[in-house]
Amino acid sequence: MQRILVTGGLGFIGSHTVVELQQAGYDVVIIDDLSNSQLSVLDRITSITGMKPDFHQFDLKEKEKVHQFFQQEKIDGVIHFAASKAVGESVNEPLKYYENNINTLVYVLKAMNNNQVENFIFSSSCTVYGQADELPITESAPVKTAESPYGNTKQIGEEILKETTTVSNLNGIALRYFNPIGAHASAKIGELPIGVPQNLIPYITQTAIGIREELSIFGDDYPTEDGTAIRDYIHVVDLAKAHIKALERLIENRNKEKYEVFNVGTGSGSSVLEIVKAFEKATNQDLAYKIVERRAGDITAAFADTTLAEKELNWKAELTLEDCLLSAWNWQKKIHENTLVE
Ligand code: UFG
Repeated sequence: MQRILVTGGLGFIGSHTVVELQQAGYDVVIIDDLSNSQLSVLDRITSITGMKPDFHQFDLKEKEKVHQFFQQEKIDGVIHFAASKAVGESVNEPLKYYENNINTLVYVLKAMNNNQVENFIFSSSCTVYGQADELPITESAPVKTAESPYGNTKQIGEEILKETTTVSNLNGIALRYFNPIGAHASAKIGELPIGVPQNLIPYITQTAIGIREELSIFGDDYPTEDGTAIRDYIHVVDLAKAHIKALERLIENRNKEKYEVFNVGTGSGSSVLEIVKAFEKATNQDLAYKIVERRAGDITAAFADTTLAEKELNWKAELTLEDCLLSAWNWQKKIHENTLVE
């Protein structure tokens, strides 16, 4: 059995990936510092899969612990989610983002090199493209100057990985996520935003359940059909599955380059208003919203060209926007019952 380390494995995308890994027959060990996740997620993963992943609670900034971990454990591959991810916060606390997202990446890669662990999957983001000149966005679109320290950590992270693979036995794949949403069909795991949600879907579900008064739609004067901004929303379970495909590619030595990049999206874009309408239809209720000013730093439109992932990873998003929105809504209702929050 292959043993896979998932850093940040109790977070939103991490937890869904742990479930898919276990169900695909991998032995999983998680490192998570619980800075933006809850220990109870471990039990919820276990209740979905019937298998309890090994769990180590520590901060990857503790370099010595990272080295000790890799010396003690026999690991076949690493999926590295652990990172800070709030765009706005990163503008106010850039050093926190460089320390949390860059130092930790360096420590993990160094420990992997020292212990002959060769397969690494990196969480990157479509944010590296900024506002792309052409849509849909292919992997060869230029990487634009980052809009935030968070975005910059993803660009720098990709470069660190690429440069490391050229001079070591490491093989790396960076997955550039578009907008991950939704929750597991069991409604046992999902997104747990702290405080006021910054992202669209949790804001919508919190509004629908009555925690927020109304959704503010950030701008209706974009050059799109209905004036609201367009994104490629991908179900977190589909995204999780893309990680398994990428990992298998490395484990089975099917990668064509030592460092590869794939877009992970659905290939089609939805406007904010389309999302609101789709949510209302899927859940059969009205959603209160108002139009406000554009949000600083937002781009007009982004959606993926997924040809490369389809061809090389044999992966394609399968779940629909309705699946995404209904699962997010079921998860919100479950959180509200207050049975899940510690
Ligand atoms: N939006 C609203 N109201 C809200 C929240 C969002 O109208 O309350 C709009 C945004 O303006 C945007 C769309 O909904 O047009 C999606 O916004 P999100 O915040 O959900 O997602 P973003 O596309 O802004 O951000 C996502 C990830 C980031 C990543 C970025 C890369 O959350 O981590 O994509 O483009 F950096």
